[in-house]
Amino acid sequence: MGGAQKRAVFKALFCLIVFLSLFLSGCEALRQSRPILPMRQYEKMVAGRLDADYVGTKTCLSACHYHDQLKKDFDASTMGVQIQRSSGLPLVNCESCHGPGSLAIKGITPEKVAADAKRGIQTACNYKTFIDIKHLPPQAQALICLKCHTANATFNLHNWNAGPHAQAGVSCIDCHKVHNGPDLKTMQRDIAGMCFKCHKEVKAEFSLPSHHPVNEGRVFCTDCHDPMGSINEKMLRRPTVKQTCTRCHGEKEGPFAFEHSENTEDCRTCHRPHGSVNANLLVVPVPFLCLQCHAGHRISSSSAPGSVSTFYTRCTDCHSQIHGTDLPSASGSGFFHR
Ligand code: HEC
Ligand code: HEC
Ligand code: HEC
Ligand code: HEC
Ligand code: HEC
Ligand code: HEC
Ligand code: HEC
Ligand code: HEC
Ligand code: HEC
Repeated sequence: MGGAQKRAVFKALFCLIVFLSLFLSGCEALRQSRPILPMRQYEKMVAGRLDADYVGTKTCLSACHYHDQLKKDFDASTMGVQIQRSSGLPLVNCESCHGPGSLAIKGITPEKVAADAKRGIQTACNYKTFIDIKHLPPQAQALICLKCHTANATFNLHNWNAGPHAQAGVSCIDCHKVHNGPDLKTMQRDIAGMCFKCHKEVKAEFSLPSHHPVNEGRVFCTDCHDPMGSINEKMLRRPTVKQTCTRCHGEKEGPFAFEHSENTEDCRTCHRPHGSVNANLLVVPVPFLCLQCHAGHRISSSSAPGSVSTFYTRCTDCHSQIHGTDLPSASGSGFFHR
């Protein structure tokens, strides 16, 4: 190695080390929690009150036992646990979503609470001064969550804004109930219920005689869809319908030596994805399904004297490998017999 070359290598190494240490210290800095002032200003604007200030959960709730259960659940939840500064994650407390609370507790003193209690009254805060979350436009509701759940922090949200749900004005809180209990994680068993509230026609499909076992808890909407947005057709998890299906039905994937033409490229040619009145989720029952594209046929056995030729209707009794096969039929061509 020549001197010039050596110097170049050292230079490159030096740059790399400087870059890496800058990068790593940068990461460390990002993990620190710090007040996010512009966001607070923004929140105050959403609340419509620039004169309100953050007072902290302690001030909000120490005297107000009405919300004790709510607070207990919240403190036990993943979001509440982040209140520990050492976690390095953004701090979440009541005011992160409901907005600054100073106006709500204005004039509430320990003396007033005690006096009210004597008269058997629970002192109420002036909750009308909070952000009216329920009546905000859906995009603004979502922003309350998205200021922390950015696409980087919550990976499955990276297609949220482009997704049909965001476009149609569905917001996070239509699906996620923040105050249902301490466990915020979406349980698989609860997913279908989340969706059926709005998708009544899909609910009906899953009650048809042939259906994917979603109600039975063996398949979930999220096996095929990403409800938080996807760039694929119908918010599917995979780029094509076929890929969505063959994730579980791998034996139908092919390629086979004898393919059923390009039919099987889209399973919807013959199947409904959710449910159907016809066996095997078929769009049309056999033989009518086959007769849409083929003429039926008779087979007569010439060896039997006086044999009657029959019109066969149970096509898949003989053409049992309808999705394709690697084995030729007796005649050497592919008729999906085996
Ligand atoms: C992550 C955001 C978020 C946090 C943090 C949060 N809330 Fe809420 N809260 C909501 C949303 C959204 C609603 C209304 C929609 C709903 O019921 O799902 C709500 C509703 C409420 C309601 C009921 C109001 C009504 O109209 O029925 C109360 C009371 C409440 N929150 C108190 C609290 C308290 C106390 C805390 C802190 C321990 C807290 N919230 C923390 C998002 C949050
Ligand atoms: C101030 C920041 C902040 C806001 C605002 C916020 N979150 Fe969170 N959220 C967190 C943090 C931090 C966690 C815990 C870490 C994690 O799981 O990503 C969390 C966790 C969650 C979880 C549970 C994740 C799990 O795996 O258990 C759900 C669901 C959730 N948030 C939904 C919401 C919804 C819906 C909203 C809006 C109403 C919202 N969050 C608003 C910071 C926030
Ligand atoms: C149409 C219903 C729906 C909407 C709208 C929705 N989510 Fe979800 N979300 C789900 C489901 C279902 C899961 C379960 C994870 C999965 O299998 O994809 C989930 C998962 C999550 C998780 C991971 C933790 C968990 O619960 O498993 C977070 C965090 C979250 N959602 C936040 C949000 C935020 C923030 C928004 C709004 C920008 C939002 N979601 C909008 C249905 C929804
Ligand atoms: C608050 C109502 C609401 C809830 C809850 C809801 N959706 Fe939707 N969904 C809509 C609306 C509105 C549209 C857009 C109009 C349409 O296509 O029906 C939509 C569209 C869709 C589409 C079609 C997208 C397209 O490209 O045509 C799918 C798939 C879907 N939702 C799946 C789900 C799943 C899975 C869940 C449960 C995790 C769910 N939805 C929960 C309201 C909802
Ligand atoms: C086995 C995979 C699979 C499962 C499980 C599944 N879907 Fe679908 N879904 C699809 C496919 C594929 C389409 C596209 C259908 C079409 O284009 O005809 C679709 C379409 C939709 C649509 C768009 C409306 C329509 O008929 O075109 C909605 C809404 C929907 N699904 C909601 C749901 C909900 C809610 C659940 C759970 C209760 C669910 N899906 C479970 C595969 C699935
Ligand atoms: C998450 C895994 C999964 C995915 C993805 C999936 N399936 Fe299924 N499928 C199942 C299970 C489980 C059954 C029920 C099998 C049983 O009852 O033994 C089933 C059954 C079927 C049946 C037979 C139904 C009956 O009435 O006997 C057909 C046809 C079918 N699936 C087609 C499809 C098509 C088409 C797709 C894509 C749109 C698809 N599957 C995607 C898991 C899946
Ligand atoms: C040309 C029509 C056609 C196409 C295209 C098609 N299927 Fe089928 N499928 C059928 C018929 C017919 C049956 C019933 C077979 C029987 O009666 O034995 C069936 C049955 C099934 C079954 C249940 C019985 C079994 O063999 O496991 C599954 C699962 C299935 N198909 C998955 C798929 C998938 C996945 C695709 C897309 C890759 C697909 N099908 C494409 C016609 C088709
Ligand atoms: C959407 C149209 C379509 C449907 C539905 C369909 N097929 Fe086919 N099928 C084709 C095409 C196209 C070919 C390949 C072209 C050809 O050779 O005729 C083919 C090929 C075949 C072959 C092999 C013919 C040969 O000469 O190699 C058989 C056997 C067959 N189909 C049986 C069936 C049966 C049984 C069903 C019903 C379960 C069915 N098909 C449903 C379009 C269809
Ligand atoms: C009793 C068994 C049997 C039944 C039932 C049957 N087939 Fe066939 N099919 C055959 C045989 C055998 C061949 C000839 C292929 C060979 O030589 O291997 C054939 C060939 C075919 C071919 C390719 C030759 C041609 O005529 O173009 C098609 C397409 C076909 N059948 C469609 C159907 C359809 C559609 C049905 C239902 C209406 C059906 N078959 C029912 C046994 C059957």
